[in-house]
Amino acid sequence: MCGIIGYTGDDERAVLDVLLDGLSGLEYRGYDSAGLAISNASLSVYKREGELSNLEAVLPEGLDGFAGVGHTRWSTHGPPSDENAHPHTDCQGRVAVVHNGIVENYAPLRAELEARGHTFESETDTEVVPHLIEEHLADGADPERAFRRTVERLEGSYAVAAVFSGRETVYATRQASPLVLGVGDDGHYLASDAPAFIEYTDRVIYLEDGQFATITPSDVTVTDERGQPADVTVRRLEWEPEDAGKSGYDHYMVKEIHEQPTAIRRCLGGRARELDGSVTIDELTDLETPSSVQFVACGTSYHASLYGARLLRERGISAQSFLASEYDADALPIDEETLVVGVTQSGETADTLSALRSANRAGATTLAVTNVVASSAARACDHTTYIRAGPEIGVAATKTFASQQVALAMVASVLAGEFPRSFVEGLRDVPDDVQSILDTSRARSIAEQYEDADAYFFIGRGYNRPVALEGALKMKEITYKHAEGFAAGELKHGPLALVTPQTPVFAVIGADDASEKTLSNVTEVESRGAPVVAVTDSPERVERHADATLEVPDTHPCLTPILANVQLQLVAYHVANRLGRSIDKPRNLAKSVTVE
Ligand code: M6R
Repeated sequence: MCGIIGYTGDDERAVLDVLLDGLSGLEYRGYDSAGLAISNASLSVYKREGELSNLEAVLPEGLDGFAGVGHTRWSTHGPPSDENAHPHTDCQGRVAVVHNGIVENYAPLRAELEARGHTFESETDTEVVPHLIEEHLADGADPERAFRRTVERLEGSYAVAAVFSGRETVYATRQASPLVLGVGDDGHYLASDAPAFIEYTDRVIYLEDGQFATITPSDVTVTDERGQPADVTVRRLEWEPEDAGKSGYDHYMVKEIHEQPTAIRRCLGGRARELDGSVTIDELTDLETPSSVQFVACGTSYHASLYGARLLRERGISAQSFLASEYDADALPIDEETLVVGVTQSGETADTLSALRSANRAGATTLAVTNVVASSAARACDHTTYIRAGPEIGVAATKTFASQQVALAMVASVLAGEFPRSFVEGLRDVPDDVQSILDTSRARSIAEQYEDADAYFFIGRGYNRPVALEGALKMKEITYKHAEGFAAGELKHGPLALVTPQTPVFAVIGADDASEKTLSNVTEVESRGAPVVAVTDSPERVERHADATLEVPDTHPCLTPILANVQLQLVAYHVANRLGRSIDKPRNLAKSVTVE
């Protein structure tokens, strides 16, 4: 959702640069306003509605200081505005606070504080925090104690960081909202996500719920709720600074689409072995074969989970996918032999975390399939496997979806103890197959041809249904045009009424048994005059029915959707680009959705 950055270091002139670099690296998390506060002889606070450039435009020359915090916002309480942008301050301007999450009890706290004479300047839930701190300072507490005592009063989810006038320390804590500390040589950092400071340090500490961090230029101290030193691990990130940049591409999304061969190779590395046709996932060696599997996930990750569930069912393991926000563990048969798998790129999606926690309470065994090491999902589950996609900055999930599909294909093989050789060989070839699509795709000309369409429909059957849904999600989120994905067989049960010559239908058609039926569905739309774009590994079978084809390499039928999706990503990207959309930061959306 929102993004937080904090820094304190030896070089006072570096504060502003670090905060601005961090904010630009975090804009993908929220981008309706941005702000920063720098502690110097007093406290300098600047904030503006809109993109980071609006904030940069009002910053004075030579702004420096001892320590600072910054924030990009995705609004929940109060619309985007200068006033509602973070940081928020107390009545005296002695403390500045940035916050990600929701303070659920802010209304009574605000009423209480107003009754005691505090003046509020925003509509946010966050603003209660600096005013509570102010009261504790007035009672004689030092900044650290004032910060802790304030946090004791907060209910809900939060990552909070604060700086105080004239001080070089940044205080922070978290509860169900991510916060990572960066341990540098010349200073220390904190952020919602490591890419915000990766160019300065790759040594990180992931803060746990309830832990407090106190960072000074020379020290990082982590304590628990009682103020006792906490055990922390300093990890070294394997990401390179250029992972967080655009590397010459116009958008992160298209860069990340092109990173898929590398991401998939990394996901497969040491797991799928061509030589003996086996799959092993080291993290899962002690995971028993479950009696049944329930997937919980949202958005794109849900589509990946539909694919994973189908693979498991095909191998004889009962499996279902649930939208995490609709998951009801109490209404489902669950015991310790039930495996509940949370599929979540960020590992921080509130709906998915809530579903996983309810599954834990119901006695299930839980597994997180995630991209982010030590994320909340990883910590909430009994087992974790990482998809190793590297940082994904574009709000539209692309390479993480591909890596999720590949990871779930391997998880299904491991759980079922079944590794058809052609499948493992096909998996090993996926990176090269994706590369050949990227090298030859005609998606740009298809986008040009259909950019004015009234709506876009996507159909697929069996293994190809999840990518039909995903193709539509990608199209709608970055082009803002109407797009729907359907099971191919469902078209005739209603959606066919929407089909016109102005609604291109993208049909994903593999070489498997089901594809004959999908071809019949294609003729149904063809005879209503809709243009058909077939995404297929067998163009000769479909060319009679299709107006255009987007070809994918021939592979194992279970793997066709991984390849077909790349073509659909490219079509959505090129349509959005032609329409001049804000591709990496589509309106109203955020990369990591940490509210339910
Ligand atoms: O981080 P997660 O995978 O849990 O995120 C779930 C969804 O919010 C996410 O997949 C969303 O649908 C995509 N960003 C859309 O491209």
